[in-house]
Amino acid sequence: MKPKVFVTRAIPDEGLALIRESSEMKLWEQELPPPREVLLREVKEIDGLLSLLTDKIDAELMDAAPRLKVISNYAVGFDNIDIPGATARRIPVGNTPGVLTDTTADFAFTLLMAAARRVVEGADYVRQGKWKTWGPKLLTGMDIHHATLGIIGFGRIGQGMARRASGFDMRILYYDVYRRQDLEESMGVRYAELDTLYREADFITIHTDLNETTRHMMNDLAFAKMKTTAILINTARGPIVDPAALYEALSSGKIRAAALDVTEPEPIAPDSPLLKLPNCLIVPHIASASVATRARMAEMAAANLLAGVHGERLPHCVNSSIYGKIEESHPISR
Ligand code: DGY
Repeated sequence: MKPKVFVTRAIPDEGLALIRESSEMKLWEQELPPPREVLLREVKEIDGLLSLLTDKIDAELMDAAPRLKVISNYAVGFDNIDIPGATARRIPVGNTPGVLTDTTADFAFTLLMAAARRVVEGADYVRQGKWKTWGPKLLTGMDIHHATLGIIGFGRIGQGMARRASGFDMRILYYDVYRRQDLEESMGVRYAELDTLYREADFITIHTDLNETTRHMMNDLAFAKMKTTAILINTARGPIVDPAALYEALSSGKIRAAALDVTEPEPIAPDSPLLKLPNCLIVPHIASASVATRARMAEMAAANLLAGVHGERLPHCVNSSIYGKIEESHPISR
């Protein structure tokens, strides 16, 4: 008998085809995530669950799934899953690290450039028929070259940002709970405490996990320490930035601009005051959304799912301590 699995959204065919071949797959095909009651019902008999970051996988859900052998998350992040709860139930959790590093770093740098040089404001200006002539002060922005970049979270994606920034002759500071002295000289980066980074950076880009220390770490106090010309980029997780504090900082001129791929909540409410600010660029959590990367993520998520339902070790396991070996965890960087 083939194992039973539930897939909570239509991931790219590269992964779906593998799952369909080796399991009895039920697929939630709608655009919006399965409602909670559907998820609770669908997991009753399954051996494997392929979830998205929009699905809350908590103790109640795991308890509703007595046969569950694996949770495979179609993302590198896994803050939607109660990891200690999964570990206590000896359910391995898979994720998709590595494949989206460069795609996400490309996009974070795209946001940095777009916010610095006011690309979206410029396009809107033209579309609205406001372009009358060349103007000496028209839509002037901030230089990227030779500016100081502050990277918070120096894991794979943070390091990807540093590589891109060095091509723009930027001065690069980073903060992480783990200092990476081994990389400082070769990558041309300098470690800085958070306060120094806030004080000196022209651009601040976030690449940390969401956890209890990083939730709302971008708050009134942090914004007060930044340059009034600072630009904030967030492609990590929305709740790392306090939206009320960000609104206050942007509208009062405490910082110059922000570019967000992620928000709190997601999706952002259409009447959020942040959407009214010309200096706040918001896009719908698409940093990893290249055709090739989403396909690779699908293959990886399928491989994790199928390994788990067959009782094999997941190729990419978040809670590998369940296999008896504690791997080094990296709580702040992605
Ligand atoms: C992730 O993988 O965690 C991203 O946020 C979506 O690709």
